[in-house]
Parts: sequence; structure tokens; C-alpha cells
Amino acid sequence: MNRIFDDRRYLVSIHSRKLPHHFTDCLVIGSGAAGLRAAIQAADSCQVLLVTKSDAESSNTFQAQGGVAVVLDPSDTVESHIADTLTVGAGLCDEAVVRTVVTEGVQRVEELIGWGAQFDSVDGRIVFGREGGHSFSRVVHAHGDATGREISQTLLRAAKANPSIEWLTHTFVLDVITDESGRCRGAIAWRQDHGMFLIWAASTILATGGAGQVYRESTNPPVATADGHAIAWRAGATLADMEMVQFHPTTLYIAGASRSLISEAVRGEGAYLLDRAGHRFMPDLHPLAELAPRDVVSRAIWERMAQTNSAYVLLDVRHIGRERFARRFPGIYEQLNSFDIDIATTPIPVRPAAHYMMGGARVDLDGRTNVPGLFAVGEVSATGLHGATRLASNSLLEALVFGARAGRAALENLDVHRPAEPIPPLDVAVERSSRTTLDLDDIRSSLRSMMGRNLGVEREGDRLAESCEIIDFWARYVMDKTFAETPGWEFQNMLTVSALIAHAAISRTESRGAHYRRDYPETDDAHWRCHLDWTKGHGSRRRDA
Ligand code: SIN
Repeated sequence: MNRIFDDRRYLVSIHSRKLPHHFTDCLVIGSGAAGLRAAIQAADSCQVLLVTKSDAESSNTFQAQGGVAVVLDPSDTVESHIADTLTVGAGLCDEAVVRTVVTEGVQRVEELIGWGAQFDSVDGRIVFGREGGHSFSRVVHAHGDATGREISQTLLRAAKANPSIEWLTHTFVLDVITDESGRCRGAIAWRQDHGMFLIWAASTILATGGAGQVYRESTNPPVATADGHAIAWRAGATLADMEMVQFHPTTLYIAGASRSLISEAVRGEGAYLLDRAGHRFMPDLHPLAELAPRDVVSRAIWERMAQTNSAYVLLDVRHIGRERFARRFPGIYEQLNSFDIDIATTPIPVRPAAHYMMGGARVDLDGRTNVPGLFAVGEVSATGLHGATRLASNSLLEALVFGARAGRAALENLDVHRPAEPIPPLDVAVERSSRTTLDLDDIRSSLRSMMGRNLGVEREGDRLAESCEIIDFWARYVMDKTFAETPGWEFQNMLTVSALIAHAAISRTESRGAHYRRDYPETDDAHWRCHLDWTKGHGSRRRDA
């Protein structure tokens, strides 16, 4: 049984008598689609405090290009969307959850349209895009490739107009607080102009997003530093599927530039993948060719890069034509122009990058974790929808459905646990060493490079063992420190979550979905059709899928 940083409960000392206190009914941490939807729902019946570590717009949601997969076309069916999700999930989806999300997702998207979201349409009829793993064109999109912005802005408008939702931006949540019984009672937070303070809440909803920043090459915004995963872990929440990290096949490869997403919808519009010799390789490998499930395409690109000794492959959109491309993907077109890539004459250099964390805090159908009073929604959660690979554009749907469900369920704690009840005094002294000074930038960059090298698209036992050792070694110097500002806390969270990813990846001795082991290339249903659950102090446990 692996034990990972078991001693840590809080990142800093907490002496409640010396700190300012805030009170709310429902604390929501994070302002992506899941957090906003949860806040709007809870605010129907209680006071909500929505806390974000940057500004309200900084989220994975805001950056989403492709869209939302949803059954709105009368010739599409719920059964077909369910079947596609299960196939791509490679045996680890929870069918009841898939059915719930696909079914309720229709209402959630219609509701969003009612709140003013405008999805692309022609003559008043929504147009649907196609993405990898889908057997039907069912992805609704906005402004061509700015779907996330449209959804965020719609939800932000609704949330900001709601007088029951109070906002605290640029506020870093270090930990959720649990009482002697293990119940979550709120959180400890920090803001540059306030210092440390406590937020007491009857229900706390983690909606902190993903962990992409633990990888050097990632599509995620800088805020995606795995904070919620690490907070949940320290509070005793069970985390599941941590080895399942999704790599997006096509991110722009320009040396020195960040890995911007070239949406899968571009392949949905007919783009081809070519190797450096100009050979279109996907039709040789999968019947869906460029629209095979994401893990299949990422792995094919990775192998082709190795075979051709190249750092990238090419995404060829020349046959789509400049005008049509610019109309359908205005944001991507502009981005490529800024790098002087003329898509009418030049194929786009692309390579895979970390994109989405399937693993997270294990939750029930209403987003409840195993820690009473603590919920998780969106990328920080593991609901059972995604299995071993997420079907393209299913995550915004999950965020809307689980956001609404958790926001409703959060009300159940109000009667019994109003935060106005006497506050339990909290005195936690965290003794930490100050024996070395750390070059945080350097160690953070080393961690992110190592994660890309050893825990990327392809993995192998000896490199995984080396990763676990290196992370444990760094942890000796990093985890016994008390930092005073965000970069240090973020790095402690990144290290904790990297350890979980590495230990989970070495434990799963098979290949399935996004987790590909060169030393165990086959899927082993007899031993591994199960989830790996991790709980602090208890190591890992297998749970049947
Ligand atoms: C994309 O536009 O390719 C990303 C969509 C997703 O991650 O579901």
C-alpha cells in the first residue's frame, strides 16, 4: 500500500481566535462553469460566497474552444451519446452517471440558451460540430471556437445579477477546514490585502478545475495548479482515477510559445494529420481516422513523432480553404496568423499536451465527497462520467449537470449546520523546518519537465519508479516548509498531486484509455477493470467499475 505525504493536514498553522471570520451558507471555490452553475443553484435558497484565486474569467471553461456535446438534434439519440461515452471511457464509466449527465444535460443546455447563451446557428437552427469518438455531429459551439467564453459570460451574468451571491476574487483557498468529527466547516483563505482569514460555511463546493500545470506542456491556464485535488486529499476525501490524464492531440507547436489548443473540431471539419514526410497516418490505424478517441490519436502522433524523429506532426487544413476556416474558427485563425502561419498554404505544426484530468475527488450523483459537508464538481471531481478517457466536449455538460445537482444538494446541510452556530475554536500548529531555501521556480520547472517525460502519453515502469522516488525526494524539502504566499502553496499542491498521479500510474500494470504503459501494452480486464481509489492514511484500494 502506498502512502503519500500522510502527515499533512493543513498547509499553514491556524489559530482561529487570531483570524478574521467570514460566514456564509454555501462556499463555492472556483468560477468555471461548474462553480458558477452550483452557485446559481444554491443561491435560490441561501447565501453563497464564491471565491476565485484570480479574476472571475480565469478558468478552463473560459478557454474551451470545441463546445458542448448534447443531444439537441432531433435525429440524434440519448442512447447514441451514452454508447459513445461508454466506448471511449474504455470500461471505467459509471453507466448510471453517464445516463444522468446525457439526459439532464439537454435541460441544462436549453436553460443556458434561455439565459441568453447564443450557440452558432443557420436560419435559426443550431449547427452541430463533430469531434473525436462521437458517432454523430452533436457538439454545439459559439462564435466558431469561443464556446467557453460564451458559456462563462452567460453564467457570469446570471451569477453577478444574483444578490444572494457574494464574490471574493484574487483569493487563494489553502485548505478546507474539518472539525473533530471530520465534517467540513468551510475554508482557510488568503488575500494579498487581507492576509489570512477563515470562511465558515454549512456546505463547501470545490470547483477548482484541473491540474494541467503539473505538466510543462499543457493547454490549461496558469491557475490550473491542482489546488482542489490537493485540498480534497488533505481533508480526507477519496481521490479516484488519478493515473488518467488526458492529452489533447493537437496543440500548436511553435518552440518557445505556449501550447495553444487547435480544437478537435478542426479535425471534425475535415483536417488531416500528416507526418513530416506528408503521409496521412490515421486511416492506417483506426476506422475513425483523425476522429478516433483522443487517447488513440495522441498515441499515434507520439509514435509517429518518434518514428520520424520529429518534435511534431502536421495538421493539414489547406483543403478546407482560408475563408471557410476563418469563418468557422476565427480565434484559431487569428492565433495562427499571429505566428505567420498561412493555413491556405502551410500545414500547422502540432503535438499532444496535457489537457484534462479525469481523476479527482470521488463523488456521488449529487457531487458529495466522502467528507460530510464537502462537495466537488467539474474537473476536480471524479463522477464516473469520463472513465479512462473523456469523450470530447463532455466536460462542460458534466459541469452544468453536476453544478446544478451539487448546488441543490448543498442546501441539505443548512438546517443542521448553520455556520452561525458556535464556532469550534481551531488551533493547529504546523511545525515546519526552515533548513534550506528553495529555488521554487527551478524546482517547479524540473517537476513539470519530469511529469511530461515520465508521465505523459506513454509510460514505462522504471521511469515511473524513478518519478515516484524523485517526487518523494523533493517532498522532503518542500512539504515540511511553511510558505507565506501563493507560489509556495501552489507548488506544494502540485507536488502532492504529481505524487498521486505517479503512484497511481505505477500501480496500474495495464494500458487502458489515456493510461498507456509500454511495458504493459494490453488492456487487462481480468485484473484491472476497476478504479484505483486513494485516501490519505489508507493508501490505495481497488473498486470494481
Ligand atoms: C477541443 O476543442 O478540442 C477541446 C474540447 C474538449 O476538451 O472537450
